[in-house]
Amino acid sequence: MIKISNLNKHFYQGNNCFKALENINLHIKPQDIFGIIGFSGAGKSTLVRCLNLLERPDEGSSIIVDNDELLSLNEKQLREKRSKIGFIFQHFNLMPSRNVLDNVLFPLAYKGIKKSQRVKKALDLLELVGLSSKANNYVHELSGGQKQRVAIARALANDPKILLCDEATSALDPNSTHEILELLKTLNQKLKLTIVLITHELAVVKQICNKVAVMEHGQVVECADVFDVFANPSSKAAISFINKSSNLNKIDKLLAKSHLLNLQENDVLVRLLYTDKGISEPLISNISHKFNLIMNILYADIELINNSPVGGTVGVLSGKQEDIRSAIAYLKAKNVKVEELLHG
Ligand SMILES: Nc1ncnc2c1ncn2[C@@H]1O[C@H](COP(=O)(O)OP(=O)(O)O)[C@@H](O)[C@H]1O
Ligand SMILES: [Mg+2]
Repeated sequence: MIKISNLNKHFYQGNNCFKALENINLHIKPQDIFGIIGFSGAGKSTLVRCLNLLERPDEGSSIIVDNDELLSLNEKQLREKRSKIGFIFQHFNLMPSRNVLDNVLFPLAYKGIKKSQRVKKALDLLELVGLSSKANNYVHELSGGQKQRVAIARALANDPKILLCDEATSALDPNSTHEILELLKTLNQKLKLTIVLITHELAVVKQICNKVAVMEHGQVVECADVFDVFANPSSKAAISFINKSSNLNKIDKLLAKSHLLNLQENDVLVRLLYTDKGISEPLISNISHKFNLIMNILYADIELINNSPVGGTVGVLSGKQEDIRSAIAYLKAKNVKVEELLHG
């Protein structure tokens, strides 16, 4: 659906040339919910703005959207193409002086469609986003989540194949965020919509994306299935995002006060990370039985991503030294990453 090759974009800030995007290559398939995550200033918004040429990339870049090279379209073709690419933003960008229905009708004006048909289309869209009852309300009478629903309905008015979302939930509270993301997921399935979702929040990617690209300093530093990035992050940026959201690193603070852990002779403090998609056996229970040891769990953080568990456990293994060695070998053979943090 979208193929980005050798995408570069520089800005001039005074006499200084600043590279906002550097040699980006991405392949987004039909019906992907493709996350692009990065810290502020990474270049995410610039990238997504290039996807409909709101921002013109440098010479030599290529952006193919649904079989058309955007950079070789003329004005008229580009206008037509843009109408097939919906866009929603953090701050909704609705017209405050118009009611909800008029906001959704706006992109349908001048399309040569009869008024009655336009109204029907807009009402259908409002129903699709769960906002039929607010058609006659003004924008300022809506909550943030409702405003974003209006913006989504408006973005879908021309039946786009692609929806670009730039921090679409960043101004919303956690409940509204959850609802908007679930709505996007429903639309992705119902309308076979390809979604590109820009965010600085890992939770957003976890909730709905199947693929994710991690950006840092204008570059894509990692790109894979969401599960794989969580289970085996390779870039500094991805590791930093994951560490911030996991509680498995709380143990690092405790290690500085290791006397509080009160480890006995032979005890081993371990951090286990589950990286295998297929894992379903009760590992900790199994090693306790098989090797006659105890694992005292201090922290655990396990989540389901695309229906597979990922995360880990921190705890103290107590038992005979050779049994602990065997248990650790057993875990490693099951593709569990085992870090021995401290020995008693
Ligand atoms: N129009 C512009 N002129 C100059 N610099 C820009 C412009 N737009 C973005 N930048 C710079 O490009 C970098 C990436 O910005 P942006 O794409 O907005 O990042 P993000 O969305 O990841 O926070 C920032 O350093 C920003 O200052
Ligand atoms: Mg941005």
